[in-house]
Amino acid sequence: MKHAVVILAAGMGTRMKSKLPKMLHPLLGKPMLAYSVESALQSGAERVVVVTGHGLEQVQEALKGYERLEFALQAEQLGTAHALMQARKLLSDFDGAIVVRYGDCPLTRVKTLTGLVRSMGTAGLALVTMHLDDPTGYGRILRDKKGEIIANVEQKDTTSEQRAIKEINPGVYCFDPDVWRMLEQVDNHNAAQEYYLPDLIRIYRAAGKKIVSLESKDPGELLGVNSRAQLAEVEQVLLTRLRAHWMAEGVRMIKPETIYLEPSVQLSSDVTLWPGVILRGATELGEGVEIGAYSILSNTTVEAGGKIKSHTLCEEAYISSGADAGPFARLRPQTHLEPGAHVGNFVETKNARLGRGVKAGHLAYLGDTEIGEDTNIGAGTITANYDGLRKHKTIIGKRVFVGSNSLLVAPVRLGDGCFIAGGSAINQDVPSDALAIARERQRTIENYMKRKREPQD
Ligand code: UD1
Ligand code: CA
Repeated sequence: MKHAVVILAAGMGTRMKSKLPKMLHPLLGKPMLAYSVESALQSGAERVVVVTGHGLEQVQEALKGYERLEFALQAEQLGTAHALMQARKLLSDFDGAIVVRYGDCPLTRVKTLTGLVRSMGTAGLALVTMHLDDPTGYGRILRDKKGEIIANVEQKDTTSEQRAIKEINPGVYCFDPDVWRMLEQVDNHNAAQEYYLPDLIRIYRAAGKKIVSLESKDPGELLGVNSRAQLAEVEQVLLTRLRAHWMAEGVRMIKPETIYLEPSVQLSSDVTLWPGVILRGATELGEGVEIGAYSILSNTTVEAGGKIKSHTLCEEAYISSGADAGPFARLRPQTHLEPGAHVGNFVETKNARLGRGVKAGHLAYLGDTEIGEDTNIGAGTITANYDGLRKHKTIIGKRVFVGSNSLLVAPVRLGDGCFIAGGSAINQDVPSDALAIARERQRTIENYMKRKREPQD
């Protein structure tokens, strides 16, 4: 049977205590709502409708990368049944099953959605249920003596007896196309004075329609996010799934529970991640790459044979095979290390291309610069790339030796094979193979200290 998915996402999310609409709170770098949207699209739905209200424009902006999404506006949040009603105009002619889910349950698996659709048969309604040791906050499922589902009672409306029921409604439903007519019968005569979507269970039963339920054995996948604590819990579940996925693909994780990575990250076999590693965005690690403890990489590529040592920060950087950075290095956007280049501790780079075999071992700032192969950058080298108004380039040739504590005032060029004496302030181009010294000559006064130490009478 073909199906459409409606995602209810208009609630305020007051329990999050945040200015950001609840649906846009990030889970592993992606808005919570994106997870429901992706599983809906992957379930093979012909139509996917998102019902939004709070932060409509922000929500649409956050989802603009997904094709085929339709939006329905719920201007006033009068309850989940009222939210579904807002999708009627778009779907009233759709003659397949209507899957409805809440945008705040991001972990629901694709196979749960497709399983529900398959289980419909001649039923009017199929829904997922599950048993929880602590059912607090969820709607409880009421069954008759034969075990048939009668209704759902919201926490706020339960009697003390009903509160003890451990079978709950996680909020994933599949309705027949009659749902729009049935919705008209939902009222708001309840503790919250809201139009409750799960009231449709009672209404479908009263109409004599068959109701089927699928019990979920994985309560983790149906966790709802109403608070910050639940957001953190859901993020943990996602992380555990991701780590397990990559370990199955041949990644070695030391203390996996300390490693954070996002779904957009691509790893390869024999990658080693030491404790505390954070991998974000479009980061890609080639075969056998090792990332040292407490390093943070975002949108960074490390080719097979590249290496990042501990406590290193990389942002939009490219590390070629045989190149390495760290410990304690900071590679800022548009840093490119060619094969065999080495960046050591307390070196900061930005918009910098380090040619093959370039060494910048300690304490340097290399910004807006190109460095030719086999050049050595001494400790304390600074490219002064900013004059207070504009940025300028420093072009350094091949096999150059830049002595320690050199200041290279851009724009400036150092020719191939030249030598910069330590402590120089270079503000003029240096020709190939030349020696440039730009510092005060040393003055030495013989026996000066000895004279000072002798008693004066
Ligand atoms: C809901 C169910 C409850 C179920 C639980 C599972 C109802 C009345 N209750 O409770 O039976 O056990 O989910 O997690 O449905 N929303 C709108 N418009 C509204 C109100 C809500 O779009 O007017 C959206 C919210 O953005 C949210 C979802 O619907 O994504 C659920 O709303 P929420 O208020 O979180 O319901 P729960 O109290 O969790
Ligand atoms: Ca909820």
